[in-house]
Amino acid sequence: MDNTLQDIKDKLNIADVISGYIQIKKAGANFRALCPFHNEKTPSLNISPQKQIWHCFGCGEGGDIFGFVMRYENVEFKDALKILAQKAGVSLPEYRPQNPAEQSEKELLSRINNFASRFYHEILIKDKRGAPALEYLKNRGLTDGTIKQWQIGYAPDDFHSLEQALAKKKVSAADLVKAGVSAKNERGQIYDRFRGRVTFPIFNYFGEVVGFSARILIDDGKSAPNRPSASGAGQAKYVNSPETLIYNKSKILFGLNFAKESIRKADEAVIVEGQMDCIAPHQADFKNVVATSGTALTEQQLMMLGRLTKNLKFCFDTDTAGRAASRRAGELALKHGFRIKVIELKNVKDPDELVRRSPNLWQKAVSEAVWFLDYYINLAESSFLPGSVEQKHYLSREVLPLLGFISDPLEQDHYILQMARRFGISEKVIRQEIRPAQVAVQTAIHPQSSGNLLLEKEVLGGMLLLTEFSERAKTEISPEDFEHNETKQLFMNVLTNVDSSRDALAKEAVFMVESQLDELGGNKPALLRELFKALALLKISGLKKRQNQLQTEIKMAEMAKNQAKIEELNRLFAQVSSEKMKFEAML
Ligand code: UTP
Ligand code: MN
Repeated sequence: MDNTLQDIKDKLNIADVISGYIQIKKAGANFRALCPFHNEKTPSLNISPQKQIWHCFGCGEGGDIFGFVMRYENVEFKDALKILAQKAGVSLPEYRPQNPAEQSEKELLSRINNFASRFYHEILIKDKRGAPALEYLKNRGLTDGTIKQWQIGYAPDDFHSLEQALAKKKVSAADLVKAGVSAKNERGQIYDRFRGRVTFPIFNYFGEVVGFSARILIDDGKSAPNRPSASGAGQAKYVNSPETLIYNKSKILFGLNFAKESIRKADEAVIVEGQMDCIAPHQADFKNVVATSGTALTEQQLMMLGRLTKNLKFCFDTDTAGRAASRRAGELALKHGFRIKVIELKNVKDPDELVRRSPNLWQKAVSEAVWFLDYYINLAESSFLPGSVEQKHYLSREVLPLLGFISDPLEQDHYILQMARRFGISEKVIRQEIRPAQVAVQTAIHPQSSGNLLLEKEVLGGMLLLTEFSERAKTEISPEDFEHNETKQLFMNVLTNVDSSRDALAKEAVFMVESQLDELGGNKPALLRELFKALALLKISGLKKRQNQLQTEIKMAEMAKNQAKIEELNRLFAQVSSEKMKFEAML
């Protein structure tokens, strides 16, 4: 495996890999880019083709090509390996376990689901049991190509057909339950979960089948929408895989595997509710569409989309549930800094219907999408008597809270003025009303640097590069000053003179400080000043934490009326404070 890694690294140039994801610009021997991992306006991501590493001075992230892909694509190492091996044209050593017990459980569940999807697909297109389902899908306008691409299938109306097919492959019924394709009743009997239904495989980001959504063939109108198969009260329209080791509903967006490239290219994603609402536009060559599968849009889903684009267009169903889902999703996405528009559907109930009527109508609706906020402001105008109390109530309840989520002050101002003008409300009142909502803006999706990581790396890089800094740093800093295990370990290696020249983190830290020296025009004294500043900041941060700790302890001692303890703690507190002042003087 080690050879394979090196082989991939040798074949790929880090600048090429990264420029496949973001725009990079030459800067001397290195490259520069806007860091995709935090919000910034001036480029602080540095890429060294010579060292084959990258580092961001803004957020402290850095590493090699694998690290970049893991971070950017939001995947584990083995998936980054797959992606890069493919790019490099290197074939990975195939992992072929001799006996099934050797397979990891995830792999097994994935193989079962992928097998099931092929099994159902074959039945749909080749077996006479699948004929009615095939006719149904054709009637809904799906082409052979679409059915093949999405691996749509038909699960026969039989309790054990999949189970029997997999039993031949020595897969146990218990594992089928773990994979979600079988279910178990109270009497412990195991049976195929999907029966007499059209099956839509649910793919993960890489196009592997992780579950299914299966639609009843004949919709008698009695099925309960958006409700899992409730025993008794009619059949659910869709039966879905349960959550399994490989299927986490809140982390999957239906169709993203097929849509990701188009989303990146178009710099826009269209989000719909249902499978068919996603497949229909794709078939008509609008490929930047994904579906939530009838559940609420989650933060994790937004996070995945956020790596591809910040522009979303919602096109949920025109019923009450769809409108509520759109509103919730919009608030969440606004909070995370997305730009959102709403695609309005007229005279149809969902996107599938509109595309079927005419792809042109769909295109028109998409291009005429209105800003999320305008959508609600327009509603205020069209649904209420102008100037009525009801209208004002609506505005203050539904619209003003949204204003608070707008992070751009100019844009916010635009809306405030517009609302004041259109509805005859005083600007002052609007401004007063929106303040409380503003706190929640922009979090989680662009986490700022994790604690002091950047400072820690800077100090380490300085120690590795400059003895005069290292000597001083060794006397001032202790392992406890490092918050992160990797940096702490490297610090201890440096302390004990363990050779770390081959350590990836060490390389990155050195690169970081070298680039800094470049930036300073080779001025070493200036670099030393910067390094001492970093050292001081790192110490100060640790001492502040210590102060907080002590304060809590003092409060507790006070509650316990433990006078001796109080005095001792106060003495410690004073000590820490004076040490902190010493470092503050270095800034
Ligand atoms: P809809 O009821 O809007 O169905 O559910 P649809 O997408 O228009 O389906 P078609 O066009 O009649 O085939 C929207 C989505 O909600 C989920 C499914 O993912 C569906 O696509 N859903 C719906 C369920 O999970 N269970 C249900 O019983 C119904
Ligand atoms: Mn539909």
